[in-house]
Amino acid sequence: MREKSEVNPIWACRAFPAFPVVLAAVSDDRGGRNVITVALVHMFSFNPPVLGIGISPARHSYGMLERADDFSLNIPGKELVEEVLYCGSRSGREVDKFEECGFETVPSKKIRSPVIGECMVNLECVKRARIDAGDHVWYLGEVVHAEMEKDADREKSLMYWSGEFRVLGDVIRRR
Ligand SMILES: Cc1cc2nc3c(=O)[nH]c(=O)nc-3n(C[C@H](O)[C@H](O)[C@H](O)COP(=O)(O)O)c2cc1C
Repeated sequence: MREKSEVNPIWACRAFPAFPVVLAAVSDDRGGRNVITVALVHMFSFNPPVLGIGISPARHSYGMLERADDFSLNIPGKELVEEVLYCGSRSGREVDKFEECGFETVPSKKIRSPVIGECMVNLECVKRARIDAGDHVWYLGEVVHAEMEKDADREKSLMYWSGEFRVLGDVIRRR
């Protein structure tokens, strides 16, 4: 047994290495659109593919996601780190983040919310469930359509935790 001491559970969670980062885009029935940086993202099912995002009720995106039937998750490459930071620090209440970041808003194939052309991968999700988990609400969406650039490379996709953006590290073992 390794020697340990009790710590605040919130701080203990900082020991996770990093979480993937996505740009979630949503448009609602009032004609609004927004994009938010999200690191609370995970797969909840492989088949069908279901992805979940955790969104704080303090976000402008929260109200939009409550009203929307769908959202898109867009996987940015590391070259978009400044845009990712911008979409994670400014609110759609004050700025049009699509315009400020110069994002090409591409109409989706199967959902109302747009996808972000500059990202390596676009995942169109239809809302399937809502989980109130605490200070974040999780929206689970089934991926009903996906597009990926030919040379999309997950080595280039961004990760984030505890104030640091990263990319994947070394493969130390294959199974
Ligand atoms: C790297 C990064 C990851 C973030 N992850 C989340 C997240 O998972 N959930 C969340 O609610 N906010 C997250 N945020 C904060 C929101 O992106 C930020 O508050 C944003 O300005 C909200 O935009 P909105 O008000 O237009 O919705 C993150 C911010 C950064 C920089």
